[in-house]
Amino acid sequence: MRHLPATMARSSAEALAAWSGQALVVGAGGIGQGLADALKALAPGLQVHTAGPARGDWRLDLSSDASLAAFLSSHGSQLRPLRLVICCAGLLHGAGLQPEKRLAQVRRESLERSFAVNAFGPLLLAQALEPLLERDHPLHFASLSARVGSIGDNHLGGWYAYRAAKAAQNQLLRTLALEWRRRLPLATVTLLHPGTTATELSAPFRGGVAPERLFTPERAARQLLAVLAGQTPEQSGAFLAWDGQPVPW
Ligand SMILES: NC(=O)c1ccc[n+]([C@@H]2O[C@H](COP(=O)([O-])OP(=O)(O)OC[C@H]3O[C@@H](n4cnc5c(N)ncnc54)[C@H](OP(=O)(O)O)[C@@H]3O)[C@@H](O)[C@H]2O)c1
Repeated sequence: MRHLPATMARSSAEALAAWSGQALVVGAGGIGQGLADALKALAPGLQVHTAGPARGDWRLDLSSDASLAAFLSSHGSQLRPLRLVICCAGLLHGAGLQPEKRLAQVRRESLERSFAVNAFGPLLLAQALEPLLERDHPLHFASLSARVGSIGDNHLGGWYAYRAAKAAQNQLLRTLALEWRRRLPLATVTLLHPGTTATELSAPFRGGVAPERLFTPERAARQLLAVLAGQTPEQSGAFLAWDGQPVPW
């Protein structure tokens, strides 16, 4: 028996061990690379590929239609049969982009940049990959959202662009889950909140996070896989945290 993480129930580990086919992780950053590494250890029946604008096996920029088309034409045939997709692309800060503390800091360009990656990216990835999917083949399509994208749970304010883009992603993928329930009945779409994890994305903002509440990317990845492995097509469209608990929309 392979090494099982302490946080992973035996049923989840057995589900992962039974998955076979191709797996694509988009966004080979902290959590994405952690997921790719964990999949290689826990799901030996999967062939795991990573993609992203700068890191990963293959180049893919989700904010560019041309990049999505080129990606499909170069690698589409290597992705059959597609068993698992995890979109780990995310944008919170970067050159000329900082989360807003107040209304005066909101910029049209920042809203557009955030929505291009955090909201539209996962949906357009699903659209690009859809021609590879078959009705009688199981698929898990997961995307990393964030609890700060929850409208019901927003008690702090701030971070307009990132919050709104993650909320929009949730609605877009919930809508996709309903469409695929009819057209691809073996597909399971899941939105995942990883918990605060020590990556480049969270680095400037985790000063106040207690050490026991800050996950390593390796731990976050294994917790997310345990949650994902327990999801079935009947549960498609859920928004779940790292501990398997539903997050309010
Ligand atoms: N870390 C946390 O505490 C935390 C909490 C809640 C939610 N999340 C979410 O978890 C996900 C993973 O974040 P992380 O913490 O692992 O951050 P990270 O290390 O900064 O990784 C972010 C990834 O997004 C990719 N990306 C950015 N723009 C992209 C684009 N246009 N097309 C494709 N990929 C793009 C980056 O690709 P390159 O490396 O190739 O540039 C990078 O691999 C994100 O969706 C984030 O919002 C993280």
